[in-house]
Amino acid sequence: MTEPTVVVAAALQESGRLLAARRSAPPELAGRWELPGGKVEPGEDPERALVRELREELGIGAELVERVPGEWPLKPGYVLRVWTARRLSGRPRPLEDHDELRWLGPDEIWSVDWLDQDVPAVRAVLAALAPR
Ligand code: CDP
Repeated sequence: MTEPTVVVAAALQESGRLLAARRSAPPELAGRWELPGGKVEPGEDPERALVRELREELGIGAELVERVPGEWPLKPGYVLRVWTARRLSGRPRPLEDHDELRWLGPDEIWSVDWLDQDVPAVRAVLAALAPR
């Protein structure tokens, strides 16, 4: 059995807001919102892959804080893993794959149409971010 391809995504947080990105492609996903990220390349470290994706897709430098517990199935052969992350440099812009970015406050998290597979991931992010 071949290992699934890992898709990595970031929960970027700032002033209590979470960054959501609206996909512009492919057509069946366009208009839906996701945690920004992308595929890990063969042989690539997943955490490095996520930092690379954030640079390519949003034009920011970022560091990962911690892995959000869990793993979510995407299409067959793909799984989603999520890290909380902090922006170090740059202002996020939708450079690739997205046509809008939004910082969602606590009351706005469910105001966007998340990709189905991102819904459980976002729930896990909120649980991980909740004050302990
Ligand atoms: O940028 P790259 O081509 O590496 O990957 P992508 O096209 O952004 O994402 C790969 C797959 O993961 C796509 O099918 C996305 O829909 C999916 N994905 C997702 O379901 N949720 C995310 N938060 C990020 C990606």
